[in-house]
Amino acid sequence: MSSDTRSGNAVRGLYEQFGVDAYYEHHGGDYANPHERHVQSLVRQADALGVLGDRVLDLCCGSGEVTRCLPHRDCTGVDPYLGWLYSERTGRPVFDWSFRDMAMDRLTGQYDSVICSFALHLCPMSLLPQVLWNLSRLSATLVVLSPHKRPDCDGLAPWTCVHEAVEERVRMRIYL
Ligand SMILES: C[S@@+](CC[C@H](N)C(=O)[O-])C[C@H]1O[C@@H](n2cnc3c(N)ncnc32)[C@H](O)[C@@H]1O
Repeated sequence: MSSDTRSGNAVRGLYEQFGVDAYYEHHGGDYANPHERHVQSLVRQADALGVLGDRVLDLCCGSGEVTRCLPHRDCTGVDPYLGWLYSERTGRPVFDWSFRDMAMDRLTGQYDSVICSFALHLCPMSLLPQVLWNLSRLSATLVVLSPHKRPDCDGLAPWTCVHEAVEERVRMRIYL
C-alpha cells in the first residue's frame, strides 16, 4: 500500500469519496491505521495503569490493531465490515454489530474494559448516547482513542473521564 493511502488525510478523502460505511464494506481490507504505533503505545499505557482487566472488548476492531498489542488478554472483537480480517489476523472471536445494532442493545456479554480505537467519532451523534449507555451495562471501563478531540464522552451516559494522554495527536481518554 502506498504511503499516501496510509496517511490520515488519505483516509479522510476516502470517507468523503465513498461514505464511511461503503468504504469499509467495499475497500476495508485496504485500510491500515497510519497511527498504529501510537495506538499500541497508548493501549500499553492503559494496560500499565491496570484499568483494562482480562476480558477486553475491541470495539470497531478493524484488523486487530488493539488486540494484537494485548496478546495476554482475552479479547473479543466487534466490527460489521472487518470482522473476517480480525479473525484471520488474531484468531479471536468477533461479532459483526454496527453502531446501529449497538444502540439497539445487540451487544451482550460482560467485559472488564471496552476499547474503541479510531472509530467512535464515526458513530452518528443521534446514536452515540444510546451506544454509550449500552456499553456501560457491559463494562465498567471505556477507553477511547481518537485522531482528534471528538467524541468527548465525559458526562454522556454514566461515563466520566479519569485519564487523558496524547501522543503525536493521537488522544486516549479513559472513562469510568
Ligand atoms: C478507522 S478504522 C479503526 C480500526 C481499528 N480499531 C484501528 O484502531 O485501526 C474504523 C473501524 O470502524 C468500523 N466501522 C465503520 N462503520 C461502522 C459502523 N457503522 N458501525 C461499527 N463500526 C463501523 C470499520 O469497519 C473499521 O474497522
